Amino acid sequence: MEIEEGGVTVEVPEARHGASEGAGTGVFYNPVQELNRDITVAVLRTVADRCETYLDATTASGIRAVRAADAGYRVTGCDIDADAVALARENLERAGGGGDVVHRNANAYMHEHAHDVVDLDPFGTPIPFVDAAFNSANRYVCVTATDTAPLCGAHFESGVRSYAAVPRNTEFHAEVGLRVLLSALVRTAARYDLAARPVLSHVSSHYVRTYLELDAGARAADELIGELGYVDHCQKCLWRRHERGLIADPLERCPHCDQSTWTAGPIWLGRAHDPEFVRAVRTAIPDSFGTAERSRSLLETIAAELAEPTHYDQHKLYKRWGEPNIGMDEFLDALRSAGYDASRTHYGGTTFKTDADVAAIEAAVE
Ligand SMILES: C[S@@+](CC[C@H](N)C(=O)[O-])C[C@H]1O[C@@H](n2cnc3c(N)ncnc32)[C@H](O)[C@@H]1O
Ligand SMILES: [Zn+2]
Repeated sequence: MEIEEGGVTVEVPEARHGASEGAGTGVFYNPVQELNRDITVAVLRTVADRCETYLDATTASGIRAVRAADAGYRVTGCDIDADAVALARENLERAGGGGDVVHRNANAYMHEHAHDVVDLDPFGTPIPFVDAAFNSANRYVCVTATDTAPLCGAHFESGVRSYAAVPRNTEFHAEVGLRVLLSALVRTAARYDLAARPVLSHVSSHYVRTYLELDAGARAADELIGELGYVDHCQKCLWRRHERGLIADPLERCPHCDQSTWTAGPIWLGRAHDPEFVRAVRTAIPDSFGTAERSRSLLETIAAELAEPTHYDQHKLYKRWGEPNIGMDEFLDALRSAGYDASRTHYGGTTFKTDADVAAIEAAVE
């Protein structure tokens, strides 16, 4: 069937569940990822002054490549699947913006060809592709990971194997997932004396998406390694602390309630986004994009998010305290009046960040 997205028209297979005659090829297409693609194009518009070429390394129907070509990029699509390649070629040709689609294993192709922006959007974990992506990319690497259960510690062993980090299924699990992924990406880039600094990241529905800006040099890479570390977390009272460093020094017991604690890491403790970059991306979203309103609202929340590496869930705290919760604005105001920083987060309507610890939060809002 033909679909229109972000001003381009592409042929895609019928949605999987509604598949009927003509679905034929089995090439992947997910309408739910429109927000991911809209933000990708807004990022491409934002960096267009320094980037010209874009590799859609796992292109499927070619929809990202077509949209990037429409944004003025010289694009290459790549897929290992012959049906996907045929469909992506057809779509790029019809769009008339030029571009090639190669029928290759993306890893082999990326080791041979350089691009300003490399986009990884594979099935599940992106880890099998990231070494090659950092070798191919001149400026930016964009990564989608849909294996959220391993990333956030719900599938613990799988997370340990894929990411060489200890994930923990805390109440801020989406953020653990993002930061386990960022840790692995930063460490992979560092192996090539590259600093891969996240400039925008979001966790939406079933996936994690991040955009990394590359800077060459051992010293730059070392600086980012210095932003890795560990989080100790108490599941009972939700107290937590984070410490930078590659050698873990875990606490045995929670200093607040004496429960034994959990430790996750090494995770990325630095900023998951650059607020100025995020604001620029927000203004690069045209009204015509299908998810314009949702994307802008998401980016606005992200730009205002504090740099703290973990967030709290207000409802979970009140449940622990055995009291009814108050409104979020009132709650954040109370924290600020008590002298703390506080912000909402994009992880959910009841989530917030603050530099206050659990005891201070309770005292501030009571
Ligand atoms: C999730 S889909 C991509 C979706 C697409 N980016 C979009 O926005 O609709 C993943 C694609 O990766 C392709 N793929 C898997 N392994 C690959 C490999 N080693 N090299 C190139 N493509 C691969 C699959 O054939 C599939 O088409
Ligand atoms: Zn505790």
